Order: sequence, then C-alpha cells, then structure tokens
Amino acid sequence: NLILKSAKTIGVLVPNIANPFFGTFIEGVQSVAREADFIPLVFSANKNLKLEKYYLSQMIERSISGLVIASATMTTETIKEVISFNDIPYILFDQNHTQDGARVQTSDYLGGQIAANYLLKLGHRHIAVLTSNNPTENLNHRMSGFKKVVEENNLTVIDSQDVVRAPLTKAGGYEAADKVLATGASAVFAANDEMAIGLLRGLHERGVKIPEDISVMGYDNIYWDDYVYPRLTTVQQPIFDLGAGATKMLIERINHNSYEARVQSFPVKLIERDSTGPYR
Ligand code: RIB
Repeated sequence: NLILKSAKTIGVLVPNIANPFFGTFIEGVQSVAREADFIPLVFSANKNLKLEKYYLSQMIERSISGLVIASATMTTETIKEVISFNDIPYILFDQNHTQDGARVQTSDYLGGQIAANYLLKLGHRHIAVLTSNNPTENLNHRMSGFKKVVEENNLTVIDSQDVVRAPLTKAGGYEAADKVLATGASAVFAANDEMAIGLLRGLHERGVKIPEDISVMGYDNIYWDDYVYPRLTTVQQPIFDLGAGATKMLIERINHNSYEARVQSFPVKLIERDSTGPYR
C-alpha cells in the first residue's frame, strides 16, 4: 500500500542564493508549500537573463504548478514569452516594482526614511551611502527615501561624492572601504546587510573603529547581523514572512484559478544594534 499521492511542484527563482536573505526567504516558501502539499524547486540565476530563461523553461518541462519570481532582470515580457502560453500562475517579488501582476513587497521608500531618521537622530550630519553599481528598482526606492529625509532635515544634498557604488555583495562592501572613508562621513547607510558586513571588515582592517569613528547601518536584517562584530544595526524586512506570503498567494492562485493582480505589502522596522552610535 505504498501508493503515495505525490506533491505538486512550484518553481522559485532567486537572484542570489548565497545571500542569507534568500535562504530565509526560501524557508518561508517551504513552510507554506509543505502544508499545502507542494514541493519547491529552487534556482538561483544571479541576474543572468539567459540562465533565468533556461531555468524557467526547464521548470515548465517539469510541469510546475506555479512560480515565485524574485528576480530583477525578468521582465513581464520575458515571463509572458516563456510561461504565459502555458498559463502558469506566478507571483513577483520586490525587485520588480514596475512590472504588473500579483506581488509581495515591502515599502523600500519608507525603509530608507527610517534609516535616515535614525542616523539624523544620532546627530550625524555628513552621511554617505553605499549602494549597488547596478541597482534594482527597489534599491533605488530605498535610497530615494533615505536621501529625501536627509536632505529635508539637513538642508544639504547628498552629493555624488557621498554616493559610493559597488557590487551588492560582501566583497563589494569590503572593497569599498577606502572610498567610503574618503567621503569623510561620520555615518554610512549600505543598501543591504551583505554589503554592510563586507564593509565592516574593510574598515576594521584599516584600524577604523565602529561606531566610534564611523557608524555603519545595513538593510534587510539577515540572521548574520547578530553574529558579526559589532552587531549590525539595520532595517528589518520580514524575510521569512515574505517567502511565506508569496507562496500563500501563489497557492491560492493555483487552487482557485484567480488571476486578479494583487499587491501585498509587508512592514519594515528599525533594528538597533551596536554598529551605530552618536556623532562625536
Ligand atoms: O539583499 C538582497 C536584497 O534583494 C534585499 O534587500 C531584498 O529587498 C531583495 O531585493
């Protein structure tokens, strides 16, 4: 009597599985999928459109029931081109702000504002930002929210000299240390935690004390933040819930055949740790 009803498959496409953000996101996906008898098939395509298309078509050949697409390069046109004639329901994740369709997201603009208000409250006036050299839409929103608040309250603009760009990775943050120091800022806001963590090491190797010499703030609240030194102050995204929420929405679509475009927004909040301190 070993005849089991096999679980159906959902596809999950993430940009970078090496970032703990997406590990936690996938845990959220699994938690909901398992309960509803779905098995996730996960691919990490690292912003490579060719690879994304390849994975997508492979997933379709394996008769997936639906897709969670957490990927920046995948436009609605591409998605439609590859999957739509198969009528496979899909949910988009934050990086795809301009695309239509059902999605889960957070307010990146608000998150940026939260970060700026916090650093200003600590007395910082000259603040640098460290962002991606190839930013996705949501990162741009994050940085605009940040700049808006700093410029309104500080009555000065964050000029291009105070914007450091590097790859959105630990190595990117690490290698940007000299450029960040060259700004002379007393605080820096990094576009995500991975970058901020790389930067911590780069600064440490140059004998810079954090937060005494410079405050470092990240974004995401990945679980590493509690295990780096100093522990990283950040803006939290409810990462597990985002994965769970996207999957719930997807499974509803699969089960009820509903195609209305829905957007579900999740909250962000400040997590104060030790990498930031008062201006001195
Ligand atoms: O760190 C990864 C980033 O990619 C996150 O900030 C998240 O919002 C996603 O877009």
